[in-house]
Amino acid sequence: MLKRFEKLFGVDLGTCNTLIYQEGNGIVLQEPTVVAIRKDTGEVEAFGAEAYAMIGRTPANLEVIYPLKDGVIANFDMTTAMLKHFISKIQGKYNWFRSSQVYISVPCGITNVQKRAVEEVIAHKGARRSIAIEEPLAAAIGAGLPVGEPIGSMVVDIGGGTSQVALISLGGIVVCHCVRRGGMSIDQDIIEYVKKKYNLVIGDRTAEEIKKNIASAVMPEDDKQMDIRGRDLVEGLPKNISITSREIYEILDDFFVSIVESIRLTMEQSPPELAGDVMERGILLCGGGALLHGLDRRLQQEIGVPVHLAENPMDCIAHGAGKMMSYKAEVLGKYSSTETKPVNVSEADAMSS
Ligand SMILES: Nc1ncnc2c1ncn2[C@@H]1O[C@H](COP(=O)(O)OP(=O)(O)OP(=O)(O)O)[C@@H](O)[C@H]1O
Ligand SMILES: [Mg+2]
Repeated sequence: MLKRFEKLFGVDLGTCNTLIYQEGNGIVLQEPTVVAIRKDTGEVEAFGAEAYAMIGRTPANLEVIYPLKDGVIANFDMTTAMLKHFISKIQGKYNWFRSSQVYISVPCGITNVQKRAVEEVIAHKGARRSIAIEEPLAAAIGAGLPVGEPIGSMVVDIGGGTSQVALISLGGIVVCHCVRRGGMSIDQDIIEYVKKKYNLVIGDRTAEEIKKNIASAVMPEDDKQMDIRGRDLVEGLPKNISITSREIYEILDDFFVSIVESIRLTMEQSPPELAGDVMERGILLCGGGALLHGLDRRLQQEIGVPVHLAENPMDCIAHGAGKMMSYKAEVLGKYSSTETKPVNVSEADAMSS
């Protein structure tokens, strides 16, 4: 039973972005999952957006880190400190977070120890109860799919560090595949390409800008150009070059192959009735990587199943996590416990690691 004044939160603790949803208020926080640290003292200099602005522009004494890697906590202390900062930002001077109940999203296929670590980060901050929930399930609830019904719903979540494909029915995950590739690996592919082809070193931020501005999952009709600046590998001096959308398109193939392979494996392992539902109803595409130009069309072409881009691809996991409590009481509880439901560890992931 909920206490009278208990507040409900959903937290999407992602490799790139952290979002907090509060029941009744919607998304109350959206910040990059980034911390800037002083190397000599180990003290934190900045969190979130402030730290993100420092990426690639730090003096020798300052380091900017992502405390999560591939969707799981890599630095527990920094993740705790960052969440503490974010929570104090939204709660002001009253410590009402203490009486709250928090659903926090985790990638599917992670170990119980990793799951427990995420729950503990929130419990550390004084929440009355924290429960980990699988990201694709949260995304499906957030996007309003009929998660509790005996109907197959497929979710493809392309995040910064991970991409997950899950088939959901009757409130639980039936099959799930997770690859350790996402938007950040596309950025790295772009950095490698520019270095090899133009002898130019560019930073993570520039690579991300290229991806957001001119990258496309389908052959671009008009060849857009973008001017970028980097450091010449030979001369060591700053240099400007122009890069085109067609050449970026060519290098992203490898990434799409691994996503399509994950979807194919998930379909292959799905019970036929549920696979039939997916054929008819289509696939929900979400996560920040889903915003890549033409990705929905490309996946639809390759798999032959309708692919629908979520209305707010970056928000739906936090929304779903926040709504989990009422949803669980109504529907999910009848069938399964989502916190303990075992999921398949991806063969695709095993192959890529
Ligand atoms: N318009 C866009 N086009 C292409 N990629 C985008 C766009 N907007 C954001 N992204 C990418 O989306 C990724 C972040 O997505 P998201 O916030 O869903 O990841 P995350 O939840 O933090 O990571 P994960 O789920 O893997 O832990 C980044 O790599 C970012 O560059
Ligand atoms: Mg995510």
